[in-house]
Amino acid sequence: MGPGALVGAVMAVFAVLVWSGSAPAQTKPVSTAPVHIQAGEALYNAHCASCHGIGGVGSKGPELLNVGAAAADFFLATGRMPLASPNLEPVSHKPYFNPSQIADIVAYINALDVEHGTPGPGILDVTPACANATGNCPTLSEGNQLFLLNCAQCHDASGAGGMLSHGYVVPSLRQATRTQIAEAIRVGPRPMPNFGPGQFTNQQVSAIADYVYYLAHTPDPGGLGIANFGPVPEGFVGVIFGLGLLLLVSRLIGNRG
Ligand code: HEC
Ligand code: HEC
Repeated sequence: MGPGALVGAVMAVFAVLVWSGSAPAQTKPVSTAPVHIQAGEALYNAHCASCHGIGGVGSKGPELLNVGAAAADFFLATGRMPLASPNLEPVSHKPYFNPSQIADIVAYINALDVEHGTPGPGILDVTPACANATGNCPTLSEGNQLFLLNCAQCHDASGAGGMLSHGYVVPSLRQATRTQIAEAIRVGPRPMPNFGPGQFTNQQVSAIADYVYYLAHTPDPGGLGIANFGPVPEGFVGVIFGLGLLLLVSRLIGNRG
């Protein structure tokens, strides 16, 4: 088999892995009703404006004119905001606001972004693709592949987290909801990088979120165990096999060049 045929084989493996998705993932609508935006503005002025400025222009904290509904929802729903002091590192804890207050503040920040002409990423609606999967689940396989390539170096292949240089703690992914995982991917809570539409389509973000949630909630008395990986082993083997082929191809091409 020449390099051409090998490249073909690799493409075929990846095509199967990448193409196997479900319906395209949609973003959740954010309210544009004045009653919600005004309620959000009042909460914002009382709890956020001291750091983010009146109208989101920034002051002790960053401006919020292009962060998008996803960032607003992520930072509020994971309790990272409001921060007690601008010098603290935001960490995940119990949310300060209830869900309807969060929706109002998100509506207000979204309205600011839209008015400014630079709306950031919306909130992805991640529907579990294989809730009752017994056999192979293509979406979970795809999420598994993308997670291993893009997230595992920091979060560990098990999702258990770890440490970065400079003493940053990488959190376990056990607490996050599917929506929050998708938001984190698009938003990139510092020092995590963000992954834009050029890197992952909404459908790929959805597959990763679905997979991470599955990984954290798969019944396993030992915690986050990748060994007990029910529906996905075929995809997993596919990834290893595909990567092996890629390495082989790059060697062949390298030797010729
Ligand atoms: C005491 C100051 C302070 C308060 C109060 C505060 N924030 Fe923040 N906020 C910050 C700082 C500082 C950051 C940057 C954190 C980082 O990147 O490590 C931040 C980051 C954010 C981000 C992410 C911005 C980005 O560019 O990704 C959002 C969204 C946000 N805050 C929303 C809010 C909302 C909504 C409230 C009110 C409920 C609020 N914050 C209250 C200081 C504050
Ligand atoms: C360079 C290292 C790095 C990479 C790569 C990375 N992350 Fe993160 N991630 C972090 C750090 C550090 C935090 C904590 C940031 C904070 O709390 O503000 C984080 C936070 C998160 C959170 C929030 C968890 C919670 O409960 O609050 C989720 C979800 C997440 N990452 C998912 C992912 C996914 C999915 C990928 C791959 C697409 C990924 N991360 C890639 C370092 C990374």
